[in-house]
Amino acid sequence: MVLVTGGAGYIGSHTAVALHEAGFMPVLVDNLHNSKASAVDGVRAIVGEDIPFEAVDICDKAALEALFGRHDFVGVLHFAAHKAVGESMAKPAMYAANNVGGLGVLLEVASAHDLDNIVFSSSCTVYGEPEDMPVAESAPFQRAESPYGWTKQACERVLEDHAAARGAAHVALLRYFNPIGAHPSANIGELPLGVPNNLIPFLTQAVSGIRKALTVFGGDYATPDGTCIRDYLHVMDLAEAHVAALQWCLDQPDDQSVIRPFNLGTGKGASVLEVIQGFERATGQKVPYTMGERREGDVVAIWADPSRAANELGWRTTRSLDTSLADAWRWQEKLNQEGSN
Ligand code: NAD
Ligand code: WQD
Repeated sequence: MVLVTGGAGYIGSHTAVALHEAGFMPVLVDNLHNSKASAVDGVRAIVGEDIPFEAVDICDKAALEALFGRHDFVGVLHFAAHKAVGESMAKPAMYAANNVGGLGVLLEVASAHDLDNIVFSSSCTVYGEPEDMPVAESAPFQRAESPYGWTKQACERVLEDHAAARGAAHVALLRYFNPIGAHPSANIGELPLGVPNNLIPFLTQAVSGIRKALTVFGGDYATPDGTCIRDYLHVMDLAEAHVAALQWCLDQPDDQSVIRPFNLGTGKGASVLEVIQGFERATGQKVPYTMGERREGDVVAIWADPSRAANELGWRTTRSLDTSLADAWRWQEKLNQEGSN
């Protein structure tokens, strides 16, 4: 069994499907702070099996202890965290307590149960505005722009120190670029609660008429079309990377600690305007948008050098930007039908 913290969330739920497809049984653990139990139903509908779900807060040590007593885990994929950059500016202590504190509690309980295969959800935000592009894992961290970004840098450091102290921990630090899209069945997808901060959920809600129009944050950057560039990858590609990373952990020598960061992206950047054009091409829908002011804290351009993940995990993305955008739209249409947002 594989412990999936944050398993009812966007990336955790898709990874549960990929784990199951690869022959692992995920145990989904979530306090439903930023998700709904319906995501677990969606996973069950896709895989056709009753995947275990445990409503546990990972900061609750006693509850985690009890959880470890009920299941025998070979590894943990640790997604559970708060992830809204703007909210983290207003509530930095809450982000430190949940993201860094939560990891600490998890590691204490996991090591007491000799669970040493750990896959951690990090982020390209650790790089800030990189000097060289594409960005490789060796690029230095910049001072984090947000408390959220700091929690990812801090968690990586906690895991480094934990691995050194344990002597037999196998840790994959997965630095995601921009995951988008949904499972092609539209049984699961991204479920933003409230007004979305991220580009794709805002865009699909604007196309649906839930939001008036998408504001493109800045058209005067030093990029070919003046808008910011990101590396958008399909969430199912990202999900499959977690299976490869777990397998990598399991393959490491028992008597040695190994910790390694991996960039997870396509290796190609797309501008905001290219995403809009791609969406219109892939779905036949018109995107209502206006050009607006720059958003504070935005990196101008970042995309991954994903060659380490290709060489060492045997993973690469296989789904195109247009496929990702079409899948995001299919999911939004389902939400619209259900009147979910
Ligand atoms: P999400 O909010 O959809 O999923 C996170 C899940 O963790 C939620 O279901 C939430 O309820 C749960 N959770 C939070 N705190 C918890 C706690 N104390 N105990 C139990 N459950 C808790 O977010 P996501 O997009 O799926 O992100 C998953 C991970 O990936 C996060 O660590 C996030 O920081 C990281 N990440 C996300 C992105 C992205 O763009 N989505 C990019 C880089 C990194
Ligand atoms: C993408 C692009 C915006 C909304 C954030 C976090 C990062 C990571 C992923 C977790 C940017 C533009 C957006 C809108 C727009 N999360 N945009 N209008 O900023 O790359 O990364 O989420 O680790 O840490 O910072 O993603 O989806 O917010 O923005 O023009 O209404 O879309 O300026 O260029 P971002 P995003």
